[in-house]
Amino acid sequence: MNGLGDKFRAIFGRPAQVFRAPGRVNLIGEHTDYNGGFVMPAALDFGTWVAVAPRQDNQLVLRSYNLDEQVQFDLEDESHPEHHWSDYVRGVVMTMRRQGVSVSGADLLIWGNVPIGSGLSSSASLEVASCLALGGQDLPRPLVATLCQQAENEFVGMRCGIMDQYISACAQEHHALLLDCRSLEARPVPISPEVRLVICNSGVKHALAGGEYNQRRAACEEGARQVGVELLRDARLDQLDGLSANLQKRCRHVVSENLRAEEAGAALLRGDLPRFGQLMYASHASLRDDYEVSCAELDQLVELARPLPGVYGARMTGGGFGGCTVNLVAAEHCESVVGALKAGYPAGEVYVCSASAGAGRVDL
Ligand code: GLA
Repeated sequence: MNGLGDKFRAIFGRPAQVFRAPGRVNLIGEHTDYNGGFVMPAALDFGTWVAVAPRQDNQLVLRSYNLDEQVQFDLEDESHPEHHWSDYVRGVVMTMRRQGVSVSGADLLIWGNVPIGSGLSSSASLEVASCLALGGQDLPRPLVATLCQQAENEFVGMRCGIMDQYISACAQEHHALLLDCRSLEARPVPISPEVRLVICNSGVKHALAGGEYNQRRAACEEGARQVGVELLRDARLDQLDGLSANLQKRCRHVVSENLRAEEAGAALLRGDLPRFGQLMYASHASLRDDYEVSCAELDQLVELARPLPGVYGARMTGGGFGGCTVNLVAAEHCESVVGALKAGYPAGEVYVCSASAGAGRVDL
């Protein structure tokens, strides 16, 4: 946001440093991260900006510019989450301190434009931007990602994988990352200037912190245990036969999605956009039928895109139960595709995105 530093000065009466961390879209590899598998996210232009200046005491003052709301807490305060946006920052502070990263009192002014509850990782971008603002700026970026994931797992109570925080902290402009979520080896995959990432927001809001996401994760852990592997990443499809029908479906999604993500990475690297698109459609079908995390609106948006000239592939993106689809679209057809999607699903919003850089300090 332009002028966040000026707004900080107007409110708090002194200059600030400003940090930004992006939201993300995942191109393929859904619900594979917590199974040690492959994902392929890219960072978005949408993000969270945090202006920060030190205080003389042990207090953290968090002010949301979007919500015109302010909360204050003591750095030593280790109380429970309050199901409030400030939980993400408090969780990050607690995790940093427990890991021996020193955090001092500060005033923070926060502004973001990642659509909330739409599967584009507004929370990870808030966590990562706050971590950098509160003393994490010199830490290796993958460590920033794991600290923020830990905050979300342990404080917020959402047992998310590493994907969102990793791409927000480590993204490269104009690239997706093919990330191995077990080794955290990341391979940058250029997004060809011939294609656009078109995101359709169904407007159906998800709330992942609760039941369904953690239930899916528990099912994966149970499947892995029964198959005799530590992580489903190591299971083969033919090993799933003995599982109950429900567990078999869940695990089949993960194992097949992991194969698709790896193949999709290779396809994008050799410029095979039609194959990449087929894998996106297959990913969506698997999330819909086997993992059961899609919804009628996301299915409708995928079917709307499928026949349009210039669309290579479409799928739901993120945790599911609402949120967005991502479409890989030939640049020269982008305008007509956007028009058709808007006309066919007037309740939604359509964003044409480019792959942005990961988190860092900005001069604002
Ligand atoms: C959410 C989680 C991620 C990942 C996706 C599904 O975005 O935060 O860790 O599991 O869902 O791929």
